[in-house]
Amino acid sequence: MATDLLLNAIKINANLTPFTRTLISELEIFSCIDSTNNYLMTRAKSDAPLGCICLAEMQTAGKGRRGRQWISPQGKNIYGSFLWNFSSLGALNGLSLAIGVGVIRALNKLGIYNVGLKWPNDIYSDGKKLGGILIEVTPRSNGSVSVVIGLGLNLNLPPEIKEITQSYTDLKDIAPNVELERNQCVAQLLNELLPITATFEQQRCIAYLNEWRKQDCLLGKKVDLFIGTQKACGIVQGIDENGLLKLQFENGKIQAFSSGEVSFST
Ligand code: BTN
Repeated sequence: MATDLLLNAIKINANLTPFTRTLISELEIFSCIDSTNNYLMTRAKSDAPLGCICLAEMQTAGKGRRGRQWISPQGKNIYGSFLWNFSSLGALNGLSLAIGVGVIRALNKLGIYNVGLKWPNDIYSDGKKLGGILIEVTPRSNGSVSVVIGLGLNLNLPPEIKEITQSYTDLKDIAPNVELERNQCVAQLLNELLPITATFEQQRCIAYLNEWRKQDCLLGKKVDLFIGTQKACGIVQGIDENGLLKLQFENGKIQAFSSGEVSFST
């Protein structure tokens, strides 16, 4: 797998569909940045246009969900974000699920099938984390909202990263025989994620629920759901029509949760 070629805007562009090209206003590639999400959030606050994309070879302050760090070593993985605008905060409901579906579609098109989704939007393979999505929102002066959608995808991680506490994996391990080139990988992701984002206000979350359900790696699993300092234990019954996680407790009752951190129960 050629994960070591540097990111290159010409090579990425060559693999984009004509429709995806129309959705991009700028494509910037940094050799080093604090966080691609931070960069676009700053630009969003000065009313940058939708369709700005920021990619980086490494991040010094990569961010994960819930204030966690996203370890971002140089040159081998994918760290990228893009900016889009939505009419209101409500219009974003379920966007993160749709983005998860888009990442799986892209991986499938690249020949990688042993992947799935862990609610709400982690990319998983064989019980290990392969990638994560971080969506951040900022209001615009006209009442609409700007959204920065960030993706970190492990292609080729160094063997032992002691800062990563979750079990993790990378494409090199899960698809050793698939010939992958990072620029082609980035283009395939953009070909899926930009059209999904651009049409999301019309399509809504409902358009992606069935596809998401087919990728659900928590279905039927016993889990602990942490919500702040509270913990709920139960068996996952999938997601409801709003994308909420359904948990069945020991007493048989089912409750849907809109947020929280899931870990596999022992
Ligand atoms: C998570 O699973 O916790 C979300 C991880 C998101 C990481 C990506 S890497 C590119 C973008 N820039 C960041 O600082 N974070 C996201």
